[in-house]
Amino acid sequence: MRTLFVVSGGDAPGINAVLGNYVRLAIHYGDTVLGANGGFPGLLDNQIVPLTFDTLVPWMGRGGSILASSRDPVLNQAEAGERLKSILRDHAVDNIILFGGNGTLRYIPPLLRDWNIPSIGLPTTIDNDVSGTEMTLGFDSACNFAYHAIDGASATAHALRGRIFLVETLGGNCGNLALAVAHGAGAHAVILPEYAYEDTWLSERITTALKHDGYVLVVICEGARGARTLADDILKWTGTRVRDVRLGHAQRGGDTSHCDRVLAAGMAHAAYTTLKSGVQMGTACVINGALAIHKGSLEHLSLAAPDRVLYNHINGLE
Ligand code: F6P
Repeated sequence: MRTLFVVSGGDAPGINAVLGNYVRLAIHYGDTVLGANGGFPGLLDNQIVPLTFDTLVPWMGRGGSILASSRDPVLNQAEAGERLKSILRDHAVDNIILFGGNGTLRYIPPLLRDWNIPSIGLPTTIDNDVSGTEMTLGFDSACNFAYHAIDGASATAHALRGRIFLVETLGGNCGNLALAVAHGAGAHAVILPEYAYEDTWLSERITTALKHDGYVLVVICEGARGARTLADDILKWTGTRVRDVRLGHAQRGGDTSHCDRVLAAGMAHAAYTTLKSGVQMGTACVINGALAIHKGSLEHLSLAAPDRVLYNHINGLE
């Protein structure tokens, strides 16, 4: 079997671990593994490299992706299907394994199915916003990265009392990452794109927490209303300068956590055995806590909003 890996969209910790685990398994059984450099644009440009375990080993715990990705939706273009099929024929590729987030996994597997190219999708994004799976690859590592930053802020908050910390996570327009981080870090408030809030409520929440706990931790998702100006607004409301921590892309490129390494090993195994069994299209989803291959595309599934009960609980809104 000759399998080609493609990374599409934002990278996430765990990609290199999947590649290492998969290559070791496949090579053991005499199969060949290739990678497209530069996502689908790279693939259409014939940027295909062999993947060997030796070259992958040092990268397995590292964030990012040894194979470059792309956000360019080139498969929309006329003749893209024919070009793709001809390149795959030239390299005798039997099937594709695709790393991607919600956009990629809704849109590309159905195209591959229409072009008779067997594929397995691996939900991969720090945002944890892929419908059909409870956990995307990279999410746990991104939470852990945030905890390191917050633990540092909390240590200095304990030493110098009376401070307000505002920590902004990535996550785009989905609040799942910020909500999980706020929960795990014991934040006093969390601000998400999906749920509106009143300035008067937030101001009151911060003032009360400052009085009771001697410091305040607010977590905000980058896509939430007011993310860019909230630090100034809080200063206006409370008279206290806000210590602003923006995790930015460092959060996406952090090291791979234990949970993501385990998920990556499971995804590699599930993808390999599924392709070997001749399945045409599948997605490696975590359902009820267990990894399973969803045989079909995710195109018709809709994404649930972040857990409202948890949001209310963190924000003291029950
Ligand atoms: O891949 C998901 C993500 O990291 C989001 O959390 C973030 O909003 C976005 O990608 C950033 O995209 P870019 O790397 O294109 O700036």
